[in-house]
Amino acid sequence: MAINLVDNTEKNRFHINTVLLTKRTATLLDALDISSQKISIVLMDDAEMARYNADFRHKKGPTNVLSFPASELYNDLPAGLIENQLGDVLISVETARKEARNKYCSLHHRICELIIHGTLHLLGYDHERSTREALIMWEKEQQLIQQMTRSRRKNMPYLAINVDHVATVRQARGTIEPDPVHAAAICELAGADGIVVHLREDRRHMQDRDVYLLRKTVKTRLNLEMAATKEMIDIALDLKPEMITLVPEKRQELTTEGGLDVVANEKKMKKVINKMSKAKIPVSLFIDPDAAQIEAALEVGATFVELHTGRYCDATTEEVQNSEFRLIEQSAELAFESGLKVNAGHGLDYRTSGRVASLPTIHELSIGHAIIARSVYVGLDQAVREMRDCILVAG
Ligand code: PXP
Repeated sequence: MAINLVDNTEKNRFHINTVLLTKRTATLLDALDISSQKISIVLMDDAEMARYNADFRHKKGPTNVLSFPASELYNDLPAGLIENQLGDVLISVETARKEARNKYCSLHHRICELIIHGTLHLLGYDHERSTREALIMWEKEQQLIQQMTRSRRKNMPYLAINVDHVATVRQARGTIEPDPVHAAAICELAGADGIVVHLREDRRHMQDRDVYLLRKTVKTRLNLEMAATKEMIDIALDLKPEMITLVPEKRQELTTEGGLDVVANEKKMKKVINKMSKAKIPVSLFIDPDAAQIEAALEVGATFVELHTGRYCDATTEEVQNSEFRLIEQSAELAFESGLKVNAGHGLDYRTSGRVASLPTIHELSIGHAIIARSVYVGLDQAVREMRDCILVAG
């Protein structure tokens, strides 16, 4: 393999996604037209970096990145032996994290910037020789970071529809109509990319019969929302939906009130995710837009996070709405750059969904109440198509 990326930090305490960084480095080498060249990238703590900085540059303390071209590393070897060897890039993750926090970007994004910087040094770029060369290098870095992270979504995000409230109406009368299984089929015919159902412990809307029938009839993707209880885990393993979303569940709440506290429940989350991963069921964690929760979601091995959009949707002033939106935007960026897939949902309607859909880091929106409520007036098919239009225009 042309890229040897090693994480030397103590116990991977920064939760580095080496697969993601290796992929991004491959994209970088491609963009520079040097994909046949070999490069080593070593991620380390400040203490180790400080030793290299002292030994090779006679400088005290750590720095963010150091580059050692192969021609310097192996200058006593015949030129033929170092053909196709670019050299080594050493990065202090500790310093990169401080810089990421100052720039409010994700750690992985900052490491990508440092990989670019180090690689350009290996290729002979130098920002210390003159202002002109510094400018050339800076411009190249700006161009490359765009290319290295361009795997963002280009089309509209997926629309997954939560049909719980069709079942709510049915349960109000305790009859057989309306049937969420029929509703799910109509949603799919109108263009939904997935169906979401929340099987609650108290079975207030969805029933076991519904989710088992939906498992047979859903043609797109079935996402089972559930609490991390033994009963629900057993059902999920038996049902085998395309994915599950873990949510906190309180008996008294009208709907899911806040995100999961993954930080406080890492052990429990890890256990559920391990069980699901053995059954090849990806797990999404429903969390508030919060950096610590995102880092914890990464740590416990989640595939997705679903960012709670409730506070943005419920905001009563433009100022609050804007600041809540910025939180979602920054959190989505952080999660995406860390290698997580990012969904969003809760409270989204025909007014608020477009702005979230416009974020290129969002994979899927999960929307229920607004669509089911509108379907009472305009029919379910029309309500789904109108929501698709809202996110198509924005996305
Ligand atoms: N995402 C999650 C995790 C939810 O719990 C819900 C509500 O069941 C939704 C999305 C959909 O929210 P709404 O019904 O407000 O669109």
